[in-house]
Amino acid sequence: MSNNQAIGVFDSGMGGLSVLKAIHECLPQEHLIYLADTKYIPYGEKEAEFIIERCIKITDYFLSCSVKALVIACNTATAAASVALRERYPDLPIIGMEPAVKPATQATRTGRVGVLATSGTLKSAKFAALLDRFAHDVTVIAQPCPGLVECIEAGDLTGTKIRALLHKYLQPMLDNGCDTIILGCTHYPFLRPLLTEILPAHIQIIDTGAAVARYLQSLLMKKDVLSDNSSLGTVDLITTGNLATFNEVANSLWTSHITSSQCVVLE
Ligand code: SIN
Repeated sequence: MSNNQAIGVFDSGMGGLSVLKAIHECLPQEHLIYLADTKYIPYGEKEAEFIIERCIKITDYFLSCSVKALVIACNTATAAASVALRERYPDLPIIGMEPAVKPATQATRTGRVGVLATSGTLKSAKFAALLDRFAHDVTVIAQPCPGLVECIEAGDLTGTKIRALLHKYLQPMLDNGCDTIILGCTHYPFLRPLLTEILPAHIQIIDTGAAVARYLQSLLMKKDVLSDNSSLGTVDLITTGNLATFNEVANSLWTSHITSSQCVVLE
């Protein structure tokens, strides 16, 4: 492993760009390769076995690019596959996402916390373990959100469809007095402006992109493989789906500093 090898970051689609952005802000000199498995999006309603299979294909691809670390920028994929990936690739530092249950339980004043996530994340043993560990003294309203990922992938962040879905998913949390809402899917940070518009001002919204970026930084530091590049690192985007659609939406979600984009076949 050497300092100027890239970091691989992947998601089922565009959502992980919210994490990539946080990593680029925290570690601007690192070379980043982002893979969106858009051909198979959404992961949220798929079986864990299928997701594990996709994650193995993606990790093998990243290893062929000689990455020095891997970030699973997808809550559903982390819940389904992080254990299997760490077992299979013991020498590769692998960082995953998890809904920010601990910080939310510390932040709530009403003792009621809402979690917006996919069914896959909410049904996982990893999520159950998180609740078990950190949510003894709070009530957690866990809300699966089918349809949100598809709207965001289509670049719809403010239209009537996504507004209607968000109102439907947020209402049980508001009715139950939640004052803290966790964004448990990496797509959802792109909805922050709409959430801020819809939700009462006292409600706190928590996501984990920046914390994951800081954790990655500390891990690379510990392994002594932080980049010693003096200039800005490259940001290469890859999709397994349609490149033109991907470019259009990716550029609308994150306009700064994309070095290249390409399509790969991973079957
Ligand atoms: C999805 O592909 O359904 C969303 C992935 C996520 O949980 O971040």
